[in-house]
Amino acid sequence: MKAMFRAPFFCTLVLSLLTRAEDIVPQTITLSSRVAPAGKSLKRRALSPENIPLADFFKGTDLQWFGNITVGTPPQDVTVVFDTGSSTLEFASTLCSTCASQIQFDPDQSKTFVNGGHTSTITFGTGVGVDPVIGDNYQLQLLNGTDTVSVGGLSSPNVPLFLITEQTPTFDIDPFSGIQGMSARAQGFFAALIARGLPSLFGLFLTPLAVGNAELTIGGFDQSKFSGDLTFASQAGHGATWELASPSIAVNGKTNSVLKTKRTIIFDSGTSNVLFDTDTANAMYAFISPEIQPNPAEPGTYGIACDLIPTLPAVIDITFTSQQGKPFNLTIPSTELSVGPFANNASLCQTLINAFDGLELVGGSLLKHYYSVWDVGNQRLGFAAV
Ligand SMILES: *[C@@H]1O[C@H](CO)[C@@H](O)[C@H](O)[C@H]1NC(C)=O
Ligand SMILES: *[C@@H]1O[C@H](CO)[C@@H](O)[C@H](O)[C@H]1NC(C)=O
Ligand SMILES: *[C@@H]1O[C@H](CO)[C@@H](O)[C@H](O)[C@H]1NC(C)=O
Ligand SMILES: *[C@@H]1O[C@H](CO)[C@@H](O)[C@H](O)[C@H]1NC(C)=O
Repeated sequence: MKAMFRAPFFCTLVLSLLTRAEDIVPQTITLSSRVAPAGKSLKRRALSPENIPLADFFKGTDLQWFGNITVGTPPQDVTVVFDTGSSTLEFASTLCSTCASQIQFDPDQSKTFVNGGHTSTITFGTGVGVDPVIGDNYQLQLLNGTDTVSVGGLSSPNVPLFLITEQTPTFDIDPFSGIQGMSARAQGFFAALIARGLPSLFGLFLTPLAVGNAELTIGGFDQSKFSGDLTFASQAGHGATWELASPSIAVNGKTNSVLKTKRTIIFDSGTSNVLFDTDTANAMYAFISPEIQPNPAEPGTYGIACDLIPTLPAVIDITFTSQQGKPFNLTIPSTELSVGPFANNASLCQTLINAFDGLELVGGSLLKHYYSVWDVGNQRLGFAAV
């Protein structure tokens, strides 16, 4: 999973979770995307949405999806995860001797690269795939700068970005070079494109490998990828974090007082597991099997003998409230329960829910069962059955 939030961002998340979500007020908002006003410059043409194909990083389960962007002049290909859990753009560079397994951007080959000269370190909250964070084993050294960035043929000059100048070996398995943050406050290339008239929303079709055709649509959504209507819910947060208020969770159709606690849940396309407070994780597992137990070798994780997994129903219904005030569920099916064997015991399989106090978050394992629309302009999230 590589939860793509970094330490400072992570602190913001924790703080925002301390504030209780207010009741959602039903409201009617037009379903059309924001269209750039024709007003000032009659010559300015609104930019049109673009589809960007995504590849699936498949390690026994679908973990993460990534696509191509180009950086620099002339353009160099860079592969990134489009991560709704972070805000900035960072990727491997030729300045990095420990990035050998990734495509590396060479700043010396770009006429438009501007070296910002400022270095920094980021430490991730969760690891690549479902592997755990132990101390600072997921850490990047960065150098800031600006350059031209193109996504799906839409190009912006002078986009703030970070070159990776060193990374810990835990990143070696990544088939992608970096991360493009897609948080609820548009930044970087997306903010620049919106300023030039691109509608301020994007759609994600994060499919299982067996389905294929995963896709990001920037500046709109792809009606051909889903059937039926989109159901929208208002953003519960007011910052960069995509999050929705949830009045209750049910597992295999059952709930209890712990699961009926009102909570705010983050939507992070850069994370594959789901994270809940320890009490909530324990309550959820109690409805699946008492044999699912924490694995002390990897704090926060739980596991069960791999051969028992196929017999276990584990349907997780998370209830949200639409902008019309109606409850709707987003459901993680039983097929997501196992995320594969643990490194310390090949017959013990890790289960989907991690305990993580102070953070409640869903990622790829939920998103891959829906078409999702991330509407920055109207501060709402939309979902449709696929
Ligand atoms: C990214 O670009 C490379 C080289 O052009 C291509 O082989 C690959 O299929 C592209 N990946 C995706 C996900 O489009
Ligand atoms: C690099 O970061 C420094 C310090 O935050 C900032 O002042 C500078 O404008 C940045 N430069 C570029 C090119 O992004
Ligand atoms: C949501 O799931 C719960 C638990 O399975 C169920 O009781 C409820 O009817 C569902 N709500 C909707 C709107 O489908
Ligand atoms: C590995 O996990 C299996 C299944 O839970 C368990 O029976 C076995 O004792 C474990 N082996 C070790 C060495 O911990």
